[in-house]
Amino acid sequence: MKLDYNNMMSEKLGSQGIAQSELDALKPRIETAVAAMAQKHADGGMDWRNLPFEQADVVKDIVAYVDEMKSDIEAFVVLGIGGSALGPLAVQQALNHPYYNELPREKVGGYPKLYVVDNVDPERLVYLFDILDLKKTLFNVISKSGSTSETMSQFMIIEEMLKKQLGDDYKKHIVCTTDKSTGNLIAIANKAGYKTFIIPSGVGGRFSELSPVGLLPAAFCGIDIAGLLEGAAEMDNLCRNGKDYTKNPAYMYAILHYIAMKRGKNISVMMPYADSLKFISDWYAQLWAESLGKKYDINGKIVNVGQTPVKALGATDQHSQVQLYTEGPFDKIIVLMGVDEYKETITIPKVYTDMPSLGFLGGVTHNKLIQTEQVATEYALTVAGKMNMTLTLPKVTPQTLGYLLHFFEIATAFAGELLEINAFDQPGVEEGKNATYALFGRPGYEDKKKELDEAPKKDQKYII
Ligand code: PA5
Repeated sequence: MKLDYNNMMSEKLGSQGIAQSELDALKPRIETAVAAMAQKHADGGMDWRNLPFEQADVVKDIVAYVDEMKSDIEAFVVLGIGGSALGPLAVQQALNHPYYNELPREKVGGYPKLYVVDNVDPERLVYLFDILDLKKTLFNVISKSGSTSETMSQFMIIEEMLKKQLGDDYKKHIVCTTDKSTGNLIAIANKAGYKTFIIPSGVGGRFSELSPVGLLPAAFCGIDIAGLLEGAAEMDNLCRNGKDYTKNPAYMYAILHYIAMKRGKNISVMMPYADSLKFISDWYAQLWAESLGKKYDINGKIVNVGQTPVKALGATDQHSQVQLYTEGPFDKIIVLMGVDEYKETITIPKVYTDMPSLGFLGGVTHNKLIQTEQVATEYALTVAGKMNMTLTLPKVTPQTLGYLLHFFEIATAFAGELLEINAFDQPGVEEGKNATYALFGRPGYEDKKKELDEAPKKDQKYII
């Protein structure tokens, strides 16, 4: 993978770009962040970095379980949300046929269809039952905390249905992925005897894709999970270089975004030029937003930092958002993600040669067209003075995808160190969760309920 940040620099962007002297002046801040990152890693505060190296047995267990179950099931359904859903979806979409679920089984190696049910929209779940045969479905309940209302409520509905419809046989239709000791899910799984895979305790939700959270669904879709870990390990080794951070792509990505943030670029656009990478933007959006959007720094000072991730797709969003990116406010940094080699090639026929505005396309491949459009968009952004950079994968494979995912994880963690915030908590999410519990009268949330009851009521005059 290549990170090209020419179009972030003053040589290309003039005063809108970053001068080398600005990077040099940041050296002490960067060195402090490098040291903090190394210390946190050494102290066990970044256990997700061990995932590429410590899961040979987990991979064996997963592969054996998939082999055992595969022929009995037609659908594999993930029940999870946030970090427990976005990664499985992104990886499957990146590596498998885009119409995977529509293809006959024999064309996808005999693997089941994949469904990811994250939201609690009643229509989505009820309609899913219209297409599932419960006798041939395996539900993977994924929750690190084991208590997330959305996931656990789905589980409660489905477990009841399975019990009613399948009798004693129901247990083999549930597999849990959760923490080894904390939360309700592990207690339920142990009591019922459900097959369970463990998320290592120091690995938080949005950093868990390379744990069984992502590996199990990927393996059930025929993806080479050892390859994913191999790619991630390669990135991890590369990113151990903290001394010469200019050779460390994840650190450089974070440094450039940090400078952009300091210059008021509060929006981070992720724009892959490959449909296969479209859902990587969703996964990245959670990682970047939830990790870096913080009110307090590590010293308790109010900082209200973060960058709003925006998901875009090239070339589709050239016809939707690029007008804003080129001519709108100077409030964004745009990451264009390309691939050198697509899995397929298709050539435009040499027709309508008498029409110059169409004829020039004859004989051109769609591969060349989309790549050229990416180059053209980079150019348009750059002449408009808009910060942009490109990430290029040689090809989307399990190895390069593992490399890319781990790249973003390390970049996010390092951006957290530069911003001096805790990238691994999410207190702003907890507030909403607690308010939900209080509104439902969950025991232990009486004070929160009182607080909500006493909050000023909405004024009718603002409701029309
Ligand atoms: O990153 C996180 O920790 C969160 O986004 C979680 O992934 C999300 O809230 C789901 O949590 P859990 O896996 O505990 O159900």
